Amino acid sequence: MDLNKRPNDMARINNKELADAFISEQVALVREQVGDKKVLLALSGGVDSSVVAALLVKAIGKQLVCVHVNHGLMRKGESEQVIEVFGKQLGATLVYVDASERFLDKLSGVDAPEKKRKIIGGEFIRVFEEEARKINDIEFLAQGTIYPDILESDGVKAHHNVGGLPEDLKFELVEPVKLLYKDEVRVVGSALGLPDDMVYRQPFPGPGLGVRCLGAITRDRLEALREADAILREEFDKNGLAGKVWQYFIAVPDMKSVGVKDGKRYEGWPAIIRAVNTTDAMTATIEEIPYPLLHRITERITSEVEGINRVLLDLTPKPIGTIEWE
Ligand code: XMP
Repeated sequence: MDLNKRPNDMARINNKELADAFISEQVALVREQVGDKKVLLALSGGVDSSVVAALLVKAIGKQLVCVHVNHGLMRKGESEQVIEVFGKQLGATLVYVDASERFLDKLSGVDAPEKKRKIIGGEFIRVFEEEARKINDIEFLAQGTIYPDILESDGVKAHHNVGGLPEDLKFELVEPVKLLYKDEVRVVGSALGLPDDMVYRQPFPGPGLGVRCLGAITRDRLEALREADAILREEFDKNGLAGKVWQYFIAVPDMKSVGVKDGKRYEGWPAIIRAVNTTDAMTATIEEIPYPLLHRITERITSEVEGINRVLLDLTPKPIGTIEWE
């Protein structure tokens, strides 16, 4: 039997009852696989790794060691939520590594998009490796691999790319949701008691805000991007767009324009709004945001965010534009 193939008769998990049955089955399987050994998990805070973490806490409690690497490119409040939900509410063993400075130093002056991605991915593995070496007796590595990852690639998630660990740190994999589609992972996450804003989170690129702080990243522009993005999310939430739009975010290019604030010249960056709908991210259409809401977002971002003096709206579908700017 091919363990990486979803059986034809496997029911689509779309309610709590099916989710609970799946959870019980996986809890038993994980206990059988792992015994009394420790399992390591890179917990990004994204949907898949969060659901795996919650499932493993239920199955093996303190034998699970979660490592959350904050690369400094998270959206506002996301690392804090990982600590709150997993460290405090679920009582998971959580190693929190604030590696922000390290990542930002490495990225300093680098403006080529692919080089930025490589640096972020490579540094992530190094930080994770350092943490893994500090913990004794780890024999297993849990991953939030889901079925589309298996169908579309070699089964290893690029952005969880701990597949790049050195030879002496090869672990046996624990992948409890590898036969599930994304919608099923969310139903299982809800049944495990994870908060909606974690389970229904939008897709977020592995390199995070790094590919939205366009060109060479600077700390001040990254901070402006993070704050503007938080305002966009808050306004979408308040106005019923959060559950309706597939992906929405701000990008801030590395260019300034002249403006005026409090009667004085005020040079600042533009914040670009991108809000798209898609089913598979291969093509995307533009969400029509009501003008009064656009005015409100513009007013808030330009008055509340240091360094931003204009707000622009990206009306480009994919193709021709990709969803991300880099
Ligand atoms: P593009 O920009 O190619 O994006 O139209 C399609 C979808 O993929 C996400 N994306 C990434 N996800 N690592 C990821 O994990 C990446 O490097 C990356 N680049 C883009 C993007 O947010 C969109 O949902």
